[in-house]
Amino acid sequence: MKPVLSVQGLKQNYGGFQALKGIDFELNAGECVALIGPNGAGKSTCFACLAGQQNAAAGHVLWRGHDLQKVSVAQRTGLGVARTFQVAQVFEALTVLQNMQLVLQAKQGVSMRDVLSDCLLHEAMHWIEEAGLSDLGPDMLRSPADRLSYGGKKRLELAMAMAGLPNPSEGLMLLDEPAAGLSPEERLDMMDRVKRMTDGGTTVLYTEHNMDAVFGVADRVLVLIDGQLVAQGTAQEVAANDVVRQRYLGQAFTFNGGAGHA
Ligand SMILES: Nc1ncnc2c1ncn2[C@@H]1O[C@H](COP(=O)(O)OP(=O)(O)OP(=O)(O)O)[C@@H](O)[C@H]1O
Ligand SMILES: [Mg+2]
Repeated sequence: MKPVLSVQGLKQNYGGFQALKGIDFELNAGECVALIGPNGAGKSTCFACLAGQQNAAAGHVLWRGHDLQKVSVAQRTGLGVARTFQVAQVFEALTVLQNMQLVLQAKQGVSMRDVLSDCLLHEAMHWIEEAGLSDLGPDMLRSPADRLSYGGKKRLELAMAMAGLPNPSEGLMLLDEPAAGLSPEERLDMMDRVKRMTDGGTTVLYTEHNMDAVFGVADRVLVLIDGQLVAQGTAQEVAANDVVRQRYLGQAFTFNGGAGHA
C-alpha cells in the first residue's frame, strides 16, 4: 500500500532546545494511528509542523504527493489536512451555529461579513447533527459557544475541522488529545467518533495519554520520547516493547485489548 503521508527527518527547535530530533513515519489512507509519549515528548510540536502552525526547522512532510513545507495553514486545509487542539479551540463569542457556518463559508471563499446570515444553515445543521449537538435545541445552538460543556466544545471543534476539508473522506485529521478533559462516557463516545471517521476513509493521527483511548482504537501506535520515535507497531507490539515500558507505560502495564472498545 502506498502511504498518503510521509514524514521524513522532521526537526523542530525552540531556541537551543531540540523538540523534534528528526522523525520519520508514514500513514496509509484510512488508517487510525496514535502518537503517544510522555509530557513534553514533542507530540503537539509534531502536529503544529504537520498542520502548518509552525514551520519545521528541517525535514519534509509529503501529503498525497504535495510537499507541505512552507505551505500556509489555509492551503494545507485546501489540500485536505486539518487539526484540532489539545485545549479545544472554538470561537466562543459566536453561536454554535455560526461556528459551523464560518467554517463552511471559509471553505467556499465567502466573505466573513456573510457569517451572521442564514447562509449554509442546512449544511451547518448537518454537521451539528454529526457532532451529536442537535439535541441541544435551537436556543442553545443560537447561543454563544462558550455556553457549551467542554465535551460539547470538543465535539464542535472536531466537526469544524472535518467540515472545513474539501473532501473529508480523503483528508487527514490530526487530533491533539481528542479525549482530554472528558468524562469516561464522553471519552468512549469521542473515540467511537474518531474510529468512525476512518471507516469513511479519512486518515487519522491522534495523540492521547489515556491508554483506553489508544489500545483497542488505533490500528497502529507510534511512540515519541524526547523528540525521537522510539517504537512503532500494533498496540500489542508497542505494549510489549521494553523501551516503551521502561520509559513510558511502566512495567506494570497490562495490554487488555482496550477495555470498552470493539
Ligand atoms: N512555544 C514553545 N517555546 C518553548 N518551548 C516549547 C514551546 N512549545 C513546546 N515547548 C517545549 O517543547 C517540548 C515539546 O512540547 P510539546 O508540547 O510538543 O510536547 P507534547 O508531547 O505535546 O506534551 P504534552 O503531552 O504535555 O502535550 C517540551 O519540552 C515543551 O516544553
Ligand atoms: Mg501536547
